Amino acid sequence: MTGDQRAEVAWNAQNVPVSTRFDDPYFSLENGLAETRCTFLAGNDLPARFGPGFRVAELGFGTGLNMLATLLAFEAVGAAGPLHYTSFEAYPMAAGDIARALGAFPEAEAVAGAYLDAWAKGKRRFLLGEMHVEVIEGDARGALPRWDGLADAWFLDGFSPAKNPELWGPDLLAAVGDHTAPGGTFATYTAAGFVRRGLEAAGFTVTRRAGFGRKRHMSTGIKR
Ligand SMILES: C[S@@+](CC[C@H](N)C(=O)[O-])C[C@H]1O[C@@H](n2cnc3c(N)ncnc32)[C@H](O)[C@@H]1O
Repeated sequence: MTGDQRAEVAWNAQNVPVSTRFDDPYFSLENGLAETRCTFLAGNDLPARFGPGFRVAELGFGTGLNMLATLLAFEAVGAAGPLHYTSFEAYPMAAGDIARALGAFPEAEAVAGAYLDAWAKGKRRFLLGEMHVEVIEGDARGALPRWDGLADAWFLDGFSPAKNPELWGPDLLAAVGDHTAPGGTFATYTAAGFVRRGLEAAGFTVTRRAGFGRKRHMSTGIKR
């Protein structure tokens, strides 16, 4: 991998990783794990919908915090597996940076051992309990259209649409729609108008909800 494709990370005063490429934090400055639960899990009606073979997909793997929050939720309710978690990431973070970021979330850190070991060895497919994880490296605009999978629930977690517009464009959101199973859903922390319109055009009925913390609104949707 060339230097260009690696994440460039700085640390703010609260020890939250910030992408210097996108000038945006990887997760909420307030409480990333609580934000994930509110936005991505509850926004997709999870853990209630988990069942054998359930498929989660994500745009923007980052630290893997969303993936670990999903594992915690899945195991907490004792849902039947397997669970599939596929995530797209253009700028993979170094294992040491991921470990440092997860240090802020003891609950997630406690179940991160096998993930961090695999990641440090360069493995991008690994098993965490009953959760099969695959991280597909490369720009999602090229990788997602080539993916042969479908998701029951999407976590749309690019950096803010103003700073990372390439992860929120109509063509990529159309590819999200194309890779969503009938009755599948998405959730995202943003309620930006152009994102909502892109998701409507991609075949979702989009709803605006109250957001987490200081974010007034977020969006969820179900495939028509
Ligand atoms: C807000 S962070 C994701 C945080 C992550 N879900 C977590 O749990 O830590 C956004 C991620 O999107 C990735 N990204 C930005 N542009 C991308 C692109 N065109 N294709 C794939 N990933 C991209 C960034 O590298 C970053 O890791």
